[in-house]
Amino acid sequence: MEKTSDSQQKTSNGVEDYLTDEIQELLSTLPREKSFDGSYLYQYQGFWYRSIYIAGMISAHRHFQARDSDTILITCPKSGTTWLKALTYATVHRSRYAIEHSPLLTTNPHELVPFIDHPAYYLKINQSPTTSIFGTHIPYSSLPHSVVDSNCRIVYMCRNPLDQFISHWHFMLKIAQDRKMEPLSLEEAFESVSNGIQGFGPFWEHVLGYWKASLDNPHKILFLKYEDVIENTLFYVKKLAEFLGCPFSDVEEKLGVIEEISKLCSFENMKDLEVNKTGRLLPDRGPKNSDFFRKGKVGDWTNYLTSAMSESLKILMDEKFSGSGLTFKLS
Ligand code: A3P
Repeated sequence: MEKTSDSQQKTSNGVEDYLTDEIQELLSTLPREKSFDGSYLYQYQGFWYRSIYIAGMISAHRHFQARDSDTILITCPKSGTTWLKALTYATVHRSRYAIEHSPLLTTNPHELVPFIDHPAYYLKINQSPTTSIFGTHIPYSSLPHSVVDSNCRIVYMCRNPLDQFISHWHFMLKIAQDRKMEPLSLEEAFESVSNGIQGFGPFWEHVLGYWKASLDNPHKILFLKYEDVIENTLFYVKKLAEFLGCPFSDVEEKLGVIEEISKLCSFENMKDLEVNKTGRLLPDRGPKNSDFFRKGKVGDWTNYLTSAMSESLKILMDEKFSGSGLTFKLS
């Protein structure tokens, strides 16, 4: 891992400082639209981002150097990032930590698997050269070159767009309440999503970028769907371990290690851990750890979207994914 310069560390360490003159100047040239939480999203390289993630992505391009042995976990937000981080961490480090001593019991998965594109984490990445699992929401077309060109492995998880939207909207509502901002109504947020405007959207372009890349290079990118992993967690944990080059031995299988990992990382278990009920990702700002655990169900969209909204989103997605071979389970 490359070390950042002093000035960069100063900027990266203080999340408040990420808006450098360079970033402010860039932002002033970009189209902007309201985010679900009432703040702004900026359109950069074809996708919509909060300013902090534009700063983060630029810094990741300059300073993050993926190694062949690294694993990068990638998602569109609210597609199961926290879960994928937990499953991967527990699987990769299973011989280092027995389940009852897993750091996942006392530390939120986002702390253990840092985002490469969030200023709050750069210093931590630099301080932990042994960290080999990272997360990001960066779209395929904007990934740092070393992620694409090295032999590091990518695991991408997507989720059906209707549940992803509802999950995202709820999450941003909590952020807005916390920061006393005025969030978009469900109707306004729906309008935005229909136009491709949400953090790291357009959703379909994010997903299609990784879908196509995974078809071209299945040894580099494992493409997972949240609904499949919910339905058959054991099968996918096994697949994940094989893909990452650390398959479960027959003895491990007989001892039920896959079941133990799956149980450790289950929604029910993780949501009730003290650290996930009380902590925050950053000391005095940023989401609460509990915000990452809402319902963990497939099909919750039926409780929020009108039939006109769901029909419209289904038609839009059929159109966008048509010919790609990619389909989603909605319930
Ligand atoms: P819901 O809002 O639909 O409940 P991300 O981790 O990408 O931010 O995604 C958050 C979504 O994943 C939330 O969905 C959350 O409840 C769900 N989730 C979190 N941990 C999970 C787990 N261990 N298993 C399944 N789903 C989980």
